[in-house]
Amino acid sequence: MIREVIVTTRAPDGRIHIAPMGVHEAGGLKMLAPFRPSTTLDNVLATRCAVVNYCDDVRIFAGCLTARYDWPTLPVDHLSCRRLAAANGKPR
Ligand SMILES: Cc1cc2nc3c(=O)[nH]c(=O)nc-3n(C[C@H](O)[C@H](O)[C@H](O)COP(=O)(O)O)c2cc1C
Repeated sequence: MIREVIVTTRAPDGRIHIAPMGVHEAGGLKMLAPFRPSTTLDNVLATRCAVVNYCDDVRIFAGCLTARYDWPTLPVDHLSCRRLAAANGKPR
């Protein structure tokens, strides 16, 4: 199954990056397939961290397509990157 989600990552300088992405779910695993090149891939390789945000706020998906990225984020325990404040439920 592929779910459309918002992936949040953090650049080495601390900037949070937000990108809509399809996450493949199979056998209890989640697999991201970021384009090469992409900021998301650069950030994941640099920080080894990404948050998969299940989100039903279509304004955020649309905002990413119209260059609006200033959506509120929150810290996540034990992770260096942040999650969307509008994400559904607890981060997994
Ligand atoms: C609904 C939707 C699904 C997307 N799925 C992917 C994806 O699976 N992999 C990917 O690299 N980009 C995907 N994109 C494009 C990314 O959001 C992004 O624009 C592009 O990968 C550039 O990434 P960057 O912002 O990290 O540089 C998707 C965009 C939309 C709107």
